[in-house]
Amino acid sequence: MTSLHLAQLGAQMSRRTGVRAIMKDIIETLRMGGDRQFINLSAGNPVVLPEVEQLWRDCTQDLLNSPDYGAVVGRYGSSQGYAPLIEAVCQDFNQRYGLELSDRHILITPGSQSLYFYAANAFGGTDAEGNLRKIVLPLSPDYTGYGGVSLNQDALVAYQPKLEIDAAAHRFKYRPDFSQLQIDEQTGCVIFSRPCNPTGNVLTDAEVQQIAQMAAPHNVPVFIDSAYAPPYPALNFTEMTPLMGANVVHCLSLSKAGLPGERIGIAIGDPEIIEVLEGFQTNLCIHSARYGQAIAAQAITSGRLAEIAETVIRPHYQAKFTVLETALDEAMPADIPWYLHRGEGAIFAWLWFDELPMTDWELYQELKTVDVIAVPGSTFFPGLRIDWPHKQQCLRISLTATPAEIAEGMARLAQVVQRVYSQVLATM
Ligand SMILES: Cc1ncc(COP(=O)(O)O)c(C=O)c1O
Repeated sequence: MTSLHLAQLGAQMSRRTGVRAIMKDIIETLRMGGDRQFINLSAGNPVVLPEVEQLWRDCTQDLLNSPDYGAVVGRYGSSQGYAPLIEAVCQDFNQRYGLELSDRHILITPGSQSLYFYAANAFGGTDAEGNLRKIVLPLSPDYTGYGGVSLNQDALVAYQPKLEIDAAAHRFKYRPDFSQLQIDEQTGCVIFSRPCNPTGNVLTDAEVQQIAQMAAPHNVPVFIDSAYAPPYPALNFTEMTPLMGANVVHCLSLSKAGLPGERIGIAIGDPEIIEVLEGFQTNLCIHSARYGQAIAAQAITSGRLAEIAETVIRPHYQAKFTVLETALDEAMPADIPWYLHRGEGAIFAWLWFDELPMTDWELYQELKTVDVIAVPGSTFFPGLRIDWPHKQQCLRISLTATPAEIAEGMARLAQVVQRVYSQVLATM
């Protein structure tokens, strides 16, 4: 076909962004590898855990046996979502957190990615007075998927964090830098993930409160991306309390609770905000698919989803983080300034190599030569425009590989890192 005449937005939105661009290279590497056995530490897809799969199989069986089946798949529904799922979430959250939610506080979306797209464009971008309202990411790095959500790319603004470093232990943690963070009348909305993909960081309750309080006087909604948070999938390895109410929209995803294929996102927040997002959804896709919503309603109402999250999903990834940590502490040279981000949740580990003598992209290529694939960190800084060497000094390691693969992958990483740093030392 001759070249298509794309509109500006067509060109912008059809471009591969963030991790998707790297995934293309990874898929090609795996395909061209022939007999080479790669240790793939790049995957974002959660592990299919037998107990979790069984839960969804049971719920599906119940749905097939129920008289509701015909109406679930054979009828359109309301844009807000399938009523039994809304009711299940409402009751569960009211009971769990002592809230007084009604169905008007809840919206079901086709995956939570779409929810951030609605939020970014409903609240961010040019307003009626011609002002550019910003989509603020208070702490960078954060989820790469935020990089593509705004139709107005100038609207996305991320802030450089403070680093809390424990040099002797080779550990570090990002903290929001409140001396820089600006949330004001020019802000459209705030978005951040907690626990965070890619770093595993969990902002403290006090930090979250502070962000929400900065936004409240300006009527700015704060979308807390809880794709890894309790009560499901409960991928927090440290205590955390979900913050709800006022201008905060708690955003859930069932993807890491074993249902990524069904695309279920859930927004819980002020009815006025929910109504705006619902209108957006009606225009985009009418509503989220109902089969997944129906099985999710059962899994939540029975309490099985929350229980499996705590007893199966969380321990699975937490144990793997321990494997990774132990392997790194054993294999990494002590005299190299490597730092592992504190593992407070999610399904990834995040490594920072201070004064790395090459870019993260080159390190990713070096790792491929020893048959290890990780994700270069620079794609996880959407909206952070400043020049900061740190952006090219990090790697994301997925905890979805087997414990043996993770341990072997870290041993090979240590060898590569030793070689990379020693070449520079040798030439000095
Ligand atoms: C932090 C975070 N937010 C949102 C998403 C999107 O999830 P989904 O659209 O499957 O709900 C992901 C997916 O990996 C994620 O890691």
